[in-house]
Amino acid sequence: MKFQTKAIHVGSEPDPASGDAVTPIHMATTFIQPGAGTWGTFDYARSGSPTRTAVEKTIACLEGAAGALAFSSGMAATHCATMLLRSGDHIVAGSDIYGGTYRLLHKICDRSGITVSLANSCDLAALKSAIQPNTKMIWIESIGNPLMSIPDIAAIANLAHEHGALLGVDSTFTSPAILRPIELGADIVMHSATKYLGGHSDVLAGVLASRTEELHKQLYFVQNATGAVLAPIDSFLLQRGIKTLALRMREQSKSALEIANWLENHPAVTRVLYPGLKSHPQHDLATRLMGNQFGAMVSFEVRGDFSQTKKVCESTELFGLAVSLGAVESLIEQPASMSHASYDPAARAKFGIVDSLIRISVGLEDVDDLKADLDQAIKIALG
Ligand SMILES: Cc1ncc(COP(=O)(O)O)c(C=O)c1O
Repeated sequence: MKFQTKAIHVGSEPDPASGDAVTPIHMATTFIQPGAGTWGTFDYARSGSPTRTAVEKTIACLEGAAGALAFSSGMAATHCATMLLRSGDHIVAGSDIYGGTYRLLHKICDRSGITVSLANSCDLAALKSAIQPNTKMIWIESIGNPLMSIPDIAAIANLAHEHGALLGVDSTFTSPAILRPIELGADIVMHSATKYLGGHSDVLAGVLASRTEELHKQLYFVQNATGAVLAPIDSFLLQRGIKTLALRMREQSKSALEIANWLENHPAVTRVLYPGLKSHPQHDLATRLMGNQFGAMVSFEVRGDFSQTKKVCESTELFGLAVSLGAVESLIEQPASMSHASYDPAARAKFGIVDSLIRISVGLEDVDDLKADLDQAIKIALG
């Protein structure tokens, strides 16, 4: 089966009892057992529930994973992955990661005695020199956030494995419709399924997909022990979203490329960061990894200071001023004051997350309307 067929049919098999053509929302938190000490397929909803199991099956299939787990948010999923580590262990993380992941690694994991070093995920030598004898995990994003850097996942997987570490890839920006990190050697794929997988800004969810059954079991143990599972209604919405994932990704990537090209020629724009542009430093690698779809996230810098940049973001009419991304509605934000506000200002400066940077999530609206909206906002803010 091809991707789009799997997205619709795997995990959505008709219910044998009722004939439901789509997976029903099973609300039960507990399940009647055949005998005392004889367990049925499900026993208690934290440990497993039919609607959640269905969407986990779909995602595992789309990622080429041994198994997948659905969580109550992307952060809950990432947190679960870090809980594989113990006090004294060390993580090497990409330097342009989601602000919430930065916060988790620096302000929560440290409480358990886990240390973190950041390194540019596009620079294999920098990653290598950040590795310590106690490094147990490398954590990168398939497209770095918000600078749109593209790491060489296969090379980083080799590096991690040579040092006995796991490679975790936050693949939120690409989704399995564009990139499947497990095929490239990653051990764990994480998604903020709140984004492209759900696709409609109406479900908060996270996913961990594992390369091996053994890893899947270890993560399942942590998830069940800590409890941040996805609710039945959210599992249903997530599975519904996934059915149109490939179509949305294709259209949104097309519009994003068109907008990135247009921005590159805009007089008020000084730099555009989009992997589909020839000017992108890792364009060739991106083409190798993603073919001709580069996702729908575009960052650009304007000729303005912090306040003028903020004003651009506040002046759009179609682009909603909001964090988050990956839905049918287009969104705009200023990383320095919004998604990456939880970075240390010094770290932001060091890694190039400048005040004049704007990040957009290109949705499914007509692309000409989107360009006109950005143009009028830039004119209001910058003249
Ligand atoms: C790349 C990335 N990873 C992880 C997360 C966290 O996911 P969630 O908000 O679903 O907890 C986000 C949220 O914006 C994100 O953009």
